[in-house]
Amino acid sequence: MASFPITRLRRLRRSPGLRALVRETAVTADDLILPLFVRHGRGMRQPIGSMPGHAQLSVDRLADEVGPLAKLGLRGVLLFGIPSKKDAIGSANFAEDGPVQQAIRALKRDFPGLVVMTDVCMCEYTDHGHCGILSAPAPLQVSANGNGSHGLMVAQMPYILNDETLEVLGRVSVSHAEAGADIIAPSAMMDGQVATIRDALDDAGFAETPIMAYSAKFASAFYGPFREAAESPPSFGDRAQYQMDPANRREALRETQLDVAEGADILMVKPALPYLDIIRDVREHFDHPIAAYNVSGEYAMVKAAAERGWIDERRVTMETLTSIKRAGADIIISYHTPDVLKWFKEG
Ligand code: PBG
Repeated sequence: MASFPITRLRRLRRSPGLRALVRETAVTADDLILPLFVRHGRGMRQPIGSMPGHAQLSVDRLADEVGPLAKLGLRGVLLFGIPSKKDAIGSANFAEDGPVQQAIRALKRDFPGLVVMTDVCMCEYTDHGHCGILSAPAPLQVSANGNGSHGLMVAQMPYILNDETLEVLGRVSVSHAEAGADIIAPSAMMDGQVATIRDALDDAGFAETPIMAYSAKFASAFYGPFREAAESPPSFGDRAQYQMDPANRREALRETQLDVAEGADILMVKPALPYLDIIRDVREHFDHPIAAYNVSGEYAMVKAAAERGWIDERRVTMETLTSIKRAGADIIISYHTPDVLKWFKEG
């Protein structure tokens, strides 16, 4: 026998009722946002191979997709557009009849209570697949030691222009707000994008439209399936010039701090599962609502393993979402949303 009373944590684990009473974290339908991919065309529902259950939808198919989920308590959606034509500056991005603009109007008409968020970026709209406007073609590579054989290479890659891109992001945001978007979510990772968009929205009479900033968005391999879904892989290079280095924790707080100063209403960390420490850091430093994006690759891994019978899909999914909430997120953007709403209904 111990000479002191054993602390018995197991007393409160003895029954489902006791465990429910002392449970610290709960994921509910109110926390979940569903990403949707909308495209031009009619009657289209094109399944996305690497994201089972998800599809590119034409605007006229949105109601079929969202209706049953709204009945199950779906709170909000995050829209991504796939335009029929791409060009250097992504003109379809701010066109009145762009896929996203049409989708916003259709959803607000059919589901007035649904929170409609829109991703503001350029990669789905540009012919080169980058998130901003491209500088002139690449100058020659120059080697530091002069003979080009070895040593430090100073490769001048084409650069994604920051300030020129900001102007486009402002225009896109206003066009989304004009169509009726409830929340504008800039994801291009340009410096100053939140301030520019805030200004543009205010000038256009949308001072009441909130901004959900993709504040700490990392240059992640977990976006792979999304790029198939949105037809947006970069045609050269990667996004490391503007998205964050996965190794950087302190820099994530600097990014977030800047977005706060620029007027962001909601702060986002993305991806979620490999960055739970960042979610926790942001939670501890700011009192803003925090969103976490449980991205396409995180979803695809669970689906692939579940299809093979290697994991219990429902339990793994709920454990994942609970971990994101426990880390400090208030809002979880997740492709698991339809499944989770159905599980909640089944009980
Ligand atoms: C646009 C954007 C991307 C994602 C959300 N917004 C792709 C990217 O940055 O390459 C990824 C979302 C996901 O993987 O689910 N920039």
